[in-house]
Amino acid sequence: MVLMYIATSLAVSIAAVAAQGGGFVNPTTQNGSFFLTANDGLGEPLNVVISGLSSPEVLTDNGFLNFARAVGLTQDCSIFPAGTPFTANLGDGGGPQNQTMELREDFGDPLFGSCLEVFMGGVHLRVFRQSGPLANTSALFLAVSNEEDLFHNHTIAQNGYDTGRDLFANTAAGITQFNGTSYNTTVQNLIGVMPVGSQGVNHGIPVDGNATLLTVTIV
Ligand SMILES: *[C@@H]1O[C@H](CO)[C@@H](O)[C@H](O)[C@H]1NC(C)=O
Ligand SMILES: *[C@@H]1O[C@H](CO)[C@@H](O)[C@H](O)[C@H]1NC(C)=O
Ligand SMILES: *[C@@H]1O[C@H](CO)[C@@H](O)[C@H](O)[C@H]1NC(C)=O
Ligand SMILES: *[C@@H]1O[C@H](CO)[C@@H](O)[C@H](O)[C@H]1NC(C)=O
Ligand SMILES: *[C@@H]1O[C@H](CO)[C@@H](O)[C@H](O)[C@H]1NC(C)=O
Ligand SMILES: *[C@@H]1O[C@H](CO)[C@@H](O)[C@H](O)[C@H]1NC(C)=O
Ligand SMILES: *[C@@H]1O[C@H](CO)[C@@H](O)[C@H](O)[C@H]1NC(C)=O
Repeated sequence: MVLMYIATSLAVSIAAVAAQGGGFVNPTTQNGSFFLTANDGLGEPLNVVISGLSSPEVLTDNGFLNFARAVGLTQDCSIFPAGTPFTANLGDGGGPQNQTMELREDFGDPLFGSCLEVFMGGVHLRVFRQSGPLANTSALFLAVSNEEDLFHNHTIAQNGYDTGRDLFANTAAGITQFNGTSYNTTVQNLIGVMPVGSQGVNHGIPVDGNATLLTVTIV
């Protein structure tokens, strides 16, 4: 899978973005976390944020699904069991919340659709909405990963959180469209929102500590 890095993406501190009304609240300032909560204490990083300043339709379940399809993902394959459900505490006063939906990369096969991802590896994401009483921003927090193929037992690729994040963000950047709706997506790099390394991270996969903020406008 080819990664294309966007040289022009802006790198900013999360404090600066949140202070400027970036359309989300930093979960860690309000007892939340940039990691999912798993039973064993190890979580996947919430490494992509869809800003609450995006077009309102994009932040709805169906609207996000259409946007995700524009980026090449579809709903989780129903033949294979969905991954373990996780919860996330986004610091919005709502406490730990179940994921809103789970999506996998769509390889465009008319029969198998996203099920092919199980064989080819690809991007997988879980979606959580920041909508509790203390931070009702409507921002979507995504845990994005790049999975290995079945021969690797369908686990997360080496550096699969960072590469999954970059692949998703770089594919989303600029103009995309699906089913008659066009999107213009701007990308900002949120530096140092979580510790660098693999401590506390699911599967012991190291992360670079950054997340990506996407602002998605319907054009
Ligand atoms: C903080 O979050 C933890 C874990 O989700 C929860 O058990 C605790 O009750 C929360 N505390 C407050 C003050 O919200
Ligand atoms: C999350 O889902 C589980 C299983 O479906 C359910 O038992 C639990 O009540 C849900 N938690 C929340 C906070 O909605
Ligand atoms: C959040 O805002 C929406 C409208 O934007 C409203 O429908 C919802 O009830 C609010 N939720 C909370 C917890 O305040
Ligand atoms: C996949 O899982 C099987 C059975 O659990 C194990 O024997 C095998 O070593 C695993 N393969 C890889 C590449 O991790
Ligand atoms: C495309 O949009 C139409 C009209 O909104 C809707 O009925 C249809 O289900 C959409 N198709 C897909 C594949 O989302
Ligand atoms: C997309 O957004 C960027 C940044 O706001 C803007 O410069 C550009 O003109 C927009 N493109 C379209 C087609 O709306
Ligand atoms: C992540 O942030 C660090 C600074 O903390 C920076 O050096 C690095 O280039 C960033 N990684 C990416 C992929 O942008």
